[in-house]
Amino acid sequence: MWKTFTQATLALTFLLAAASGQASGSDVSPAALAAFKRPDTVPHPAGNPYSAAKAALGEKLFFDPRLSRDNDISCATCHDPARGWEDGRPTAIGADGLRNERHTPSVQNLAWSRALLWDGRTPTLESQVWFALTAHDEMAQDVGRLTAELAAIPDYAAAFAAVFPDRGISLITLSAALATYQRENLSGDTPFDRWVAGDPGAVPEDARRGFALFTGRANCTACHSGWNFTDGAFHDIGLPAGADLGRFRFSRDAADKYAFKTPGLRNITLRAPYMHDGSIATLRAVLEHFNGPFPARPSLSPALTTADLGAAEIDALLAFLQALESTPDIPRDSEH
Ligand code: HEC
Ligand code: HEC
Repeated sequence: MWKTFTQATLALTFLLAAASGQASGSDVSPAALAAFKRPDTVPHPAGNPYSAAKAALGEKLFFDPRLSRDNDISCATCHDPARGWEDGRPTAIGADGLRNERHTPSVQNLAWSRALLWDGRTPTLESQVWFALTAHDEMAQDVGRLTAELAAIPDYAAAFAAVFPDRGISLITLSAALATYQRENLSGDTPFDRWVAGDPGAVPEDARRGFALFTGRANCTACHSGWNFTDGAFHDIGLPAGADLGRFRFSRDAADKYAFKTPGLRNITLRAPYMHDGSIATLRAVLEHFNGPFPARPSLSPALTTADLGAAEIDALLAFLQALESTPDIPRDSEH
């Protein structure tokens, strides 16, 4: 009896020590770090297997303004490698100067995403292409006209014939090439990854404290989990209610009101302004948002804690997010 009691006390003391060690940030466990290790391989679907030639064709298409109706907007106009594959605007501007209601998200690290767009209304990188090509506030293109236009360009005719023998140029082959290229678009190595690989000196002390907060009291990993810091799911994080009802729009499930996809956080320092509507200008202001208070509404995520982060803790979280910025994986030639 006594022995069991002692063992239990010892175990409890050990747990408390481990917990306080984590809170001070001095000693994050290797297991906590391992959950954020970069994957070794990129998954490609069986129906659209990887080939280097297909990815190269996809890259050429991604940077080519001839994909848009007026031949003036490429995918990279909005998904600009120099801006963390976003456009730096609160909300995107497409054909005819039309303003998209939403902020351009990054297109890095999407091979693992099970639902695309802020509200997840399309399941694959292949199916997403049609939205970008045809939306008036993006490329305003007619798909039939585009495939005829590309077929008349000898370089494209040859590349499609080589990559998709006997299949020609269609929405399906065009989308397959763009999707393959985008799956391979991974953010690069970061100081944080060098820490995960075993070198705590790769990131400053305050960033290590920030990570302990991120995975601990601030509860960020309830949603920003895994190597790309996203659960791929949809949450209402209590932003002021606007006209955009998020995932509810097509799911019609009241729990999805104001719910948007959790963005990954790699290269987040390059991706201002923030949120689905671009309504938050700086990372510091994002962190202040997560400090609450939040509007009381049924759809609000229960994972939001009012952690009451102090100024020094917000600085530590910022230092941690800074350590997720990769050495530039650019420039890619945007003049293709
Ligand atoms: C005018 C700016 C603009 C152009 C041009 C554009 N996009 Fe986007 N992209 C956006 C916006 C805005 C969204 C978010 C829309 C939404 O969620 O409703 C988006 C979303 C995406 C997503 C989903 C990302 C995620 O995390 O779910 C992918 C993938 C994507 N675009 C790829 C492309 C490709 C490929 C092209 C070219 C064929 C392209 N985009 C052209 C602005 C643009
Ligand atoms: C309940 C889930 C949840 C929790 C907890 C959470 N986030 Fe988020 N986070 C989201 C979602 C969802 C968005 C996008 C919301 C939108 O645009 O409407 C977001 C957006 C962000 C953004 C802006 C990303 C971008 O591309 O614009 C940052 C930075 C961020 N969160 C960091 C954090 C940090 C740091 C914490 C902890 C203090 C945290 N988040 C806690 C779900 C969560």
